[in-house]
Amino acid sequence: MNFENILSTSNQGVATITINRPSKLNALNKATIEELHQAFKAADQDKDIKVIVVTGSGEKAFVAGADISEFANFDVENGGKLAAKGQEILFDYVQNLSTPVIAAVNGFALGGGLELAMSAHFRIASDNAKMGLPEVSLGVIPGYGGTQRLPQLIGKGRAMEMIMTAGMIDAQTALSYGLVNHVVTQEELLPLAEKIAGKIIKNSSVAIAKAIDAINANYKDGINGFEVEVKHFGDCFGTEDFKEGTTAFLEKRKADFPGK
Ligand code: COA
Repeated sequence: MNFENILSTSNQGVATITINRPSKLNALNKATIEELHQAFKAADQDKDIKVIVVTGSGEKAFVAGADISEFANFDVENGGKLAAKGQEILFDYVQNLSTPVIAAVNGFALGGGLELAMSAHFRIASDNAKMGLPEVSLGVIPGYGGTQRLPQLIGKGRAMEMIMTAGMIDAQTALSYGLVNHVVTQEELLPLAEKIAGKIIKNSSVAIAKAIDAINANYKDGINGFEVEVKHFGDCFGTEDFKEGTTAFLEKRKADFPGK
């Protein structure tokens, strides 16, 4: 697939999607959001891809937000549509993918950038990373899920403070808040993502997809996560991966999951 604003590569079961507008600090314009949708969709549908890593190009930014120049003249209707479309094709879309998504936050993750990182299944960061939701400093609020996912991840009080002050937190603070799982140097960031991906890949992709869905169920209105867990747990017993996983254990060998 040919993209203008992103790069998409794959190696040994790991797809790496890199937002590639470094001169604009990888800000998310409409075209980039659409390309990201296509790249995530293609990676998720590729049976050989077991983990997706999303990161930003250059040493300065993961993503410095939605592209402000694109929406500065929007009216109420277009503003609403911008958020709705973005949530549908990128932010909710990524959260609900059955392939694990790791955000490797390599610099500024602001506004839509932090929202994209929060849509990923978990986050790691380089020690120069800075994260924030500065929307209220522009007279708007986070519109790509930030008011919902930030409190889910770091608690309501901290999210309120970050959103109201429009301030940025550094990588160590993000680590202490539980917003990111690990902080390493920039050189170590993608190798760490690959190392974690390597551990994930050894496990049953079918079971992982069901686990993602069960965990996400806890955050959806009108859905009982415990019931989703019971259903997916039961369904696992009908998979080839379950047969292989349990047989390999009893035969004292490593499982070789067919992913079915
Ligand atoms: N939308 C559009 N363009 C953006 C952008 C955004 N969210 N963030 C950065 N850019 C552009 C700048 O306009 C600049 O372009 P130019 O060289 O054509 O003027 C380029 O990226 C470099 O950014 P610059 O501001 O010069 O870098 P800096 O090191 O001085 O500051 C930031 C870095 C991240 C602090 C600053 O760019 C910033 O505050 N960005 C906006 C963050 C934001 O509010 N995001 C939420 C949007 S809802």
